[in-house]
Amino acid sequence: MRFLQIVLLLLASCNLARAEDRPDIVLADFEGDDYGVWRSEGEAFGTAPARGTLPNQMAVSGFLGQGLVNSFRGGDATQGTLTSPPFAVERRYINLLVGGGHHPTETSVDLVVDGRVVESATGPAAGGGNEHLDWQSWDVQDLAGKQAVIRIVDRNTGGWGHVLVDQIVQSDRRLAAEPASRDMPVTAHYLNLPVRTGAPPRHVRFTVDGRTVREFDIELADAITSTTKSVAAPLKMQPKIPPGAISLWGPTDVSVFRGKTLRIEVDALPKGSQALELATIDDEPRVLAPIYHEKQRPQFHFTAPRGWLNDPNGLVYSAGEWHLFYQHNPYGWNWGNMHWGHAVSDDLVSWRELPIALSPRRYGDWCFSGSAVIDHDNTSGFKKGDGDLLVLAYTSTGRGECIAFSNDAGRTWTEFDGNPVVKHQGRDPRLVWHAPTKRWVMAIYDETDSKRWIAFYTSSDLKIWEFASRIEGFFECPDLFEIASDDDETVARWVLYGADGKYVLGQFDGRVFTPDTEKQQLWHGNFYAAQTFSDAPDNRRVQIGWGQGITFPGMPFNQQMTVPVELTLRSTSAGPRLFAWPVDELESLRSTLHAFGDVRVSPDENPLEDITGELFDIEAEIDLGDVHECGFTVRGVPVTYNVERHELSCGAHKAPLLPADNVIRVRLLADRGSIEIFGNSGEMALSSAAAPAAENRTLAFFTRGGRARLRSVTVYELRSAW
Ligand code: FRU
Repeated sequence: MRFLQIVLLLLASCNLARAEDRPDIVLADFEGDDYGVWRSEGEAFGTAPARGTLPNQMAVSGFLGQGLVNSFRGGDATQGTLTSPPFAVERRYINLLVGGGHHPTETSVDLVVDGRVVESATGPAAGGGNEHLDWQSWDVQDLAGKQAVIRIVDRNTGGWGHVLVDQIVQSDRRLAAEPASRDMPVTAHYLNLPVRTGAPPRHVRFTVDGRTVREFDIELADAITSTTKSVAAPLKMQPKIPPGAISLWGPTDVSVFRGKTLRIEVDALPKGSQALELATIDDEPRVLAPIYHEKQRPQFHFTAPRGWLNDPNGLVYSAGEWHLFYQHNPYGWNWGNMHWGHAVSDDLVSWRELPIALSPRRYGDWCFSGSAVIDHDNTSGFKKGDGDLLVLAYTSTGRGECIAFSNDAGRTWTEFDGNPVVKHQGRDPRLVWHAPTKRWVMAIYDETDSKRWIAFYTSSDLKIWEFASRIEGFFECPDLFEIASDDDETVARWVLYGADGKYVLGQFDGRVFTPDTEKQQLWHGNFYAAQTFSDAPDNRRVQIGWGQGITFPGMPFNQQMTVPVELTLRSTSAGPRLFAWPVDELESLRSTLHAFGDVRVSPDENPLEDITGELFDIEAEIDLGDVHECGFTVRGVPVTYNVERHELSCGAHKAPLLPADNVIRVRLLADRGSIEIFGNSGEMALSSAAAPAAENRTLAFFTRGGRARLRSVTVYELRSAW
């Protein structure tokens, strides 16, 4: 009996070995100039395979060679079918690359035998996602020897109403993505995972001693070469990583597990993926090219060294350091896996990256936005040692509003064991010390009764909070602060800000905010979720916003902060208003100066034609004369003032600016990813993602419809802050 079993086993394994040796049969690779023997009906597939991405489509990736089936021809609205000639089923599997819309039966690839659909595949994305093709495999063992037809179908006309298909192959091996894992001894500080922006997101779990210690989603780079057409290639280990196969490395600090074995588990990896083989444990986060020296790296705006950034968080000045925390995805170019990144500066100009301050405790419990303060009087009782006691509040999406503290200058944070301290529908706690009532205030975005409010809670110790009041009409990321008037030291106002950059002035008694203005708008354009520093010296009110939408395609990082500005309260004819001006510290980057006084400019003239450069800080006082429009063209990007409309525009954004005695004053800051414009003395601020053209280094001042007078212009070239 035993002997027979062994013989059978041996026979079975011989069979298997022989089967695996059989060559694959390529049913279609869609590399030809037309569909050959395949029959195309309707409009969606046209008469020939597509060469990659079609007009108005997100970038298509994951196909092999140059051609593929892409039914986005004419957009999502078109329909059609593409049918193969009959063929005999001769291998155990049919492997195929599939992407596009997830509409089973409507955007699909069907295997048809005897007139019946016996297998079907559809794309992964329903209304969003990506245009990536991934391997799917049909087990067709039961159909051996039968005649079959493959029919590619597009019957959907709505969102994601298209299908992507490539490389249909009969094979003895399955290529579809499957769960994978790797054990790695933790011998150094960081585990680095390869990321390819746009690849299908994979779910990764780290376990140590059988316990899940980290879990996140990551667009893992499979590093399967996409230029080779050989179907066997994905099965082999590629000794060399194809160029462009990795967009960035996603590091995780694993130092606390040193000496142990860490298991990396991935929910699905395609066969031949090298993602896990490529993972390394190193002393430093891995980089493709030296960080801060990349082609598009902003030179005086804060960016994350790698990965995604959004809201500034926990801005606080302590012991000579400006702390900037920020919403951060360390594992990808897009939003996700929210952590708090951390950097410090002693001059608001150059920043030093510190380890991540807050990491999610478990999958789905993300560290959303919040703020930080110094608890000078140790009201919380968390103080140890002589340094400042820093306390931060943030939204844990799985628990509620939480606090954490640090006695080592923000380098490490300890969660309060009574977290969450507030539970409600909302997010983004802003902590403020209210001196007159000697209580802490938490201003927080609140969604009671499905409305948008800012709620105020108060506390004597940062741990036990009481609801005080709420004010309607504000969305996300509140900021709340008191500011003295520049004109009259005795007049102070409270300011309440929402994420959209609109604010009201008013009175705040520690419990209730009473506005005495309508909503005002100082900032325009790519500016969101701004925050001001707690405890800034000399009563300064320094603000940093997220330059929302300032993107860096092809770079290992994405999004930037706006320049730090100093806010002041000034009298205007309309009443007191906030003004914003880049912090003086930025002037330390000024290098070569080109200055002019009193130049008359006609429509065909450019007084700045001799100036070339990359980074500019320009200040100008312009007598509008009789022009219809005038402005600067900064490295190809127009910044235009329209006299009739009293409006300044740059890229997609416009902002109002009133002349005084027919004169406007502007200050322009031009970096690699954006242009910021401050109008008059800072009564208007605009951040624009209209990025200067990389190769263009020219500068112009132009007028249209008349002559203007440049009463003065100073153009500084700026140095890099890095
Ligand atoms: C604003 C925001 C916040 C939230 C955070 C998440 O941009 O949506 O409300 O806390 O981003 O990243």
